[in-house]
Amino acid sequence: MLNIIKVSNEEQFNEVGAGIIAGLLQTNPRAILGLATGSTPVGVYAHLIELYKKGLVSFAQATSYNLDEYIGLASDHPESYRRFMNEKLFNHVDIDLRNTYVPDGTASNPEQAAQEYTRMLDAAGRIDLQFLGIGHNGHIGFNEPADELHATTHVVALKEDTRQANARFFNSIDEVPTHAMTMGIASILKSKQILLMAKGESKAEVLARALTGPLTTQCPASLLQTHPNVVIVVDQAAGGMLK
Ligand code: GLP
Repeated sequence: MLNIIKVSNEEQFNEVGAGIIAGLLQTNPRAILGLATGSTPVGVYAHLIELYKKGLVSFAQATSYNLDEYIGLASDHPESYRRFMNEKLFNHVDIDLRNTYVPDGTASNPEQAAQEYTRMLDAAGRIDLQFLGIGHNGHIGFNEPADELHATTHVVALKEDTRQANARFFNSIDEVPTHAMTMGIASILKSKQILLMAKGESKAEVLARALTGPLTTQCPASLLQTHPNVVIVVDQAAGGMLK
């Protein structure tokens, strides 16, 4: 079931997204969160920090698993997703950093590290809420369009368009890693609830394709249509092509 919430401005976008995450933590303080990076979640995390400072939400007993990480960036590299999470959320709330997991992009054997991440996720049980953004090519996490998709955490070669889209965060495209580690599609779909957020006109076409088009591995986000509980938060621009 896809539940679409269209908001009218950036502030509402962040409030609604943060409200969904905070609401879960209020009813289930021990929730397992699946977290995302990218530009979309930044304002949502900022709003969550505000809610925490007002005493309206606590992460003290929560656990988090991030979707993905670049391979080859040290965890303190400004663009590593571990550093992103620490700076945009974890360092400002009461989450125990030992309960925050991000795939290890520095592992000497990334394939083995990916398997280890899958083992940890399996041992943790089901993620209560998986937060997702969406790439312009329909990727979720770093599950890129392909003839075949992977079920669990794996190493992936990034598509050229993805590297170009993310080059804005680096000094040049040459610095953008060529590979990443990402949770697989089955791991994402195993979550009890999914929160997909997208804003801006540049996401309108891919959102329509993902949510109303055919199920295809060429648009990994289209597989979200098979999930029983997806909440989609979009602004007017991103939701412009949704019926
Ligand atoms: C990145 C991340 C995704 C993210 C997507 C969209 O490469 N791996 O998890 O959802 O691309 O990013 P943005 O929110 O900046 O548009």
